[in-house]
Amino acid sequence: MGKKRRLFTGNAPIGGKGLKSRRVARVVTSKYHAIRNEMQSCGDNKERMAELEKELEAIGGTDKYQQASIVSTSHFKTSRWVVKMIEQHLGRSSAKIRVLEVGAINIQLHSVAWLDVRSIDVNSQHPLIEELDFFDLPPEQAFDVVVCSMVVNCVTEAAKRGEMLARLRGHLRSEESLLLLVLPSRCIESKHCGAARFESLLGGLGFGFQAPLKTTPRLFFYTLRRGVSRYLGSEEADKLGGKEVSEDDSLQQPPLDSAPKAKSDKKNPKDRKRKRKSEQADEHTDVEHVEEEEAWVLETRAALTSLLPRQLLKHFSSDFSQVPPTEFCINIAPSLTC
Ligand SMILES: C[S@@+](CC[C@H](N)C(=O)[O-])C[C@H]1O[C@@H](n2cnc3c(N)ncnc32)[C@H](O)[C@@H]1O
Repeated sequence: MGKKRRLFTGNAPIGGKGLKSRRVARVVTSKYHAIRNEMQSCGDNKERMAELEKELEAIGGTDKYQQASIVSTSHFKTSRWVVKMIEQHLGRSSAKIRVLEVGAINIQLHSVAWLDVRSIDVNSQHPLIEELDFFDLPPEQAFDVVVCSMVVNCVTEAAKRGEMLARLRGHLRSEESLLLLVLPSRCIESKHCGAARFESLLGGLGFGFQAPLKTTPRLFFYTLRRGVSRYLGSEEADKLGGKEVSEDDSLQQPPLDSAPKAKSDKKNPKDRKRKRKSEQADEHTDVEHVEEEEAWVLETRAALTSLLPRQLLKHFSSDFSQVPPTEFCINIAPSLTC
């Protein structure tokens, strides 16, 4: 009989003791999201905000929410899928594979000897999980794998969700590096997103898709490479955008291995213009300091403007401020496109 592998021994789930029932856990997580969403949209209404803060406290706040998340996801071991995808796509090597886990509520990946894991969460539940907001971690292409499971959907602003996706790519070391992204299907399939549009956006950000795409009735599991984009054919793009696409609309995509590089301005006239503007600023102002944009911003801009069909770029640049917070949508801020 084959020896049963026990990857995750020694690390009992953390924080989950107070909750056992999956049904109760689901009630807590949906209530938490509903309150956070309303907080996002209640603007200057201080009275309502105070009520919502009380409601949040009454359900046990973020700690309880994280405990509930552990229970809700305990039937499916995301970490098991993560390890399987890393083995399948990168293999094991003598050097440890560097992994960043964003929004970590357990330390299961830390038990895998051949991984060097950095776990972060804005509200840490364990000493091995650094308490850090993902947006405060500069993307420096330092990781072979980034795991981001059920986190983008927790970000309350549409533009921040877009920024998160772009920043995730900025943490990946090379074209082969992997982003393992998990999202609830109800988000991906929402009216303002939609699986086809969402996947085009991922391609437009420069990501390449790796089979298999795993789905369950509740979740989508994406395995994405930093590079090697899958581009839309014009027929697909027409369907999604609902409009005629002109020939110069960048649907004839560059070859897979020539995804736009941040520092090159050869292909993108907008980049050339921007560079010239910045040079002119340097010429005319001795005192004024023109701040350099970060590599991930330049890369995102170059990728989106050349890889995402214009009508989809328009869609994701829409003002979604009137969309109710319960409806998942993603916005790409102007700073990332022009
Ligand atoms: C629904 S839980 C998902 C946990 C786990 N990754 C999983 O798949 O079960 C979302 C987690 O993301 C964390 N989170 C949300 N926004 C974050 C941010 N900006 N930076 C770091 N962590 C964040 C939350 O604190 C929470 O622990």
